[in-house]
Amino acid sequence: MPGGSVVMAVLALRLLLPCTGQHHLEEAERIMTTTPVIDGHNDLPWQLLKRFNNQLGLPEANLTTLDGTHTNIPKLRQGHVGGQFWSVYVPCDTQNKDAVKRTLEQIDVVHRMCELYPETFSCVVDSTGIQQAFQNKKVASLIGVEGGHSIDSSLGVLRTFYHLGVRYMTLTHSCNTPWADNWLVDTGDDPPLHNGLSSFGKMVLAEMNRLGMIVDLAHVSVETMEAVLNLSKAPVIFSHSSAFSLCQNRRNVPDDVLKMVASTDSLVMINFYNNYVTCRDTATLADVADHMDHVKKVAGAQYVGFGGDYDGVTRLPTGLEDVSTYPALVAELLARNWTEAEVKAALAENLIRVFRKVEEVKANLQGTAPHETPIAFEELEGSCRTPYGYTDGAGTARLPPAALGLALALLHSLLS
Ligand SMILES: *[C@@H]1O[C@H](CO)[C@@H](O)[C@H](O)[C@H]1NC(C)=O
Ligand SMILES: *[C@@H]1O[C@H](CO)[C@@H](O)[C@H](O)[C@H]1NC(C)=O
Ligand SMILES: *[C@@H]1O[C@H](CO)[C@@H](O)[C@H](O)[C@H]1NC(C)=O
Ligand SMILES: [Zn+2]
Repeated sequence: MPGGSVVMAVLALRLLLPCTGQHHLEEAERIMTTTPVIDGHNDLPWQLLKRFNNQLGLPEANLTTLDGTHTNIPKLRQGHVGGQFWSVYVPCDTQNKDAVKRTLEQIDVVHRMCELYPETFSCVVDSTGIQQAFQNKKVASLIGVEGGHSIDSSLGVLRTFYHLGVRYMTLTHSCNTPWADNWLVDTGDDPPLHNGLSSFGKMVLAEMNRLGMIVDLAHVSVETMEAVLNLSKAPVIFSHSSAFSLCQNRRNVPDDVLKMVASTDSLVMINFYNNYVTCRDTATLADVADHMDHVKKVAGAQYVGFGGDYDGVTRLPTGLEDVSTYPALVAELLARNWTEAEVKAALAENLIRVFRKVEEVKANLQGTAPHETPIAFEELEGSCRTPYGYTDGAGTARLPPAALGLALALLHSLLS
């Protein structure tokens, strides 16, 4: 009779329901065994500097037993992390001071991580290397520079970072550089200086396209985002940003920019920081899934990724406390009817697609000369600079008139 079958159905549901969560988690683990997550931004190197002054040999710095951080080797394994852009972040107060030296030291500590734990980390520099690391069950380890202040307005430093394995640069952190505006311009806390990108900033972008270094637009102003999306020859990433329409924080990406992300085949890797997810101090895993759903709805599943910002933030959502928790988020996406193909795209394939395209643009630009024009001397800031190169020969024209007059007067007094 009908009543009986309803009761049976309700009973069956009661029995089934507690299992569905578990079922999705098992599905997530199965998918991630072959397609692990590539996360866009992790600040473990910054923790290694703060806690141990980069002394990896200290017993308490052992990455297998490391405690009090979001990241350690067992957690990475449990989280099925197969690729990680390690941030070689140095704060904005190093700008015009020791930013370059400190960035080099953070690059060095990532290299030493790979050497010290070869059974876990494999430092790679291209998309093929990521896929080899997947096959060898290693964490493909890549380097991202977080903030253009790290190159001290030098294309030579930018190129040298590329040689050292850097594969993305965030154009700004939370400060303007002499050539690009940061997100605090949009909150009114910093003045707009460059309409997004100065002419030197456009040269930095062109050189990154030529080198095959991914451009990262996390932390930049909306005008900088638009300028880059208009001008870049290659797709770009937001390595750790969420959706502005769900939380009106200027670190997040507005919907019209999400549409430009889709039309340029670029990628937004969702940040888990509570204050960017809910605009409050508290958040849950489901709130992060809402951001992923939103980018999927506005741009498409091909343009979503994961950019947890672990060890760079203080507050993380319930359910996403450390790097072991990615499978729980993937299970939530499955529960929201993301297909296996969409989940795999967000986990790794989208990033690999962008990286391949960046490599292709590099290949197409092989044979074009490096950009050599230095930033104008008067655009540099700070008072401790030597003027070599700017004082004679080809550099003279780059000196401001006052300094040029001084140099000529000096030359005159030496000759007379
Ligand atoms: C870290 O600790 C583990 C477990 O105690 C040990 O086997 C390993 O050799 C240590 N690694 C380093 C680099 O000190
Ligand atoms: C980007 O291009 C669009 C369309 O051509 C234009 O309307 C917009 O002003 C440009 N934005 C920037 C910042 O260059
Ligand atoms: C997922 O799909 C099922 C079956 O089509 C449907 O019953 C359910 O409401 C969907 N869930 C969501 C969150 O869209
Ligand atoms: Zn950041």
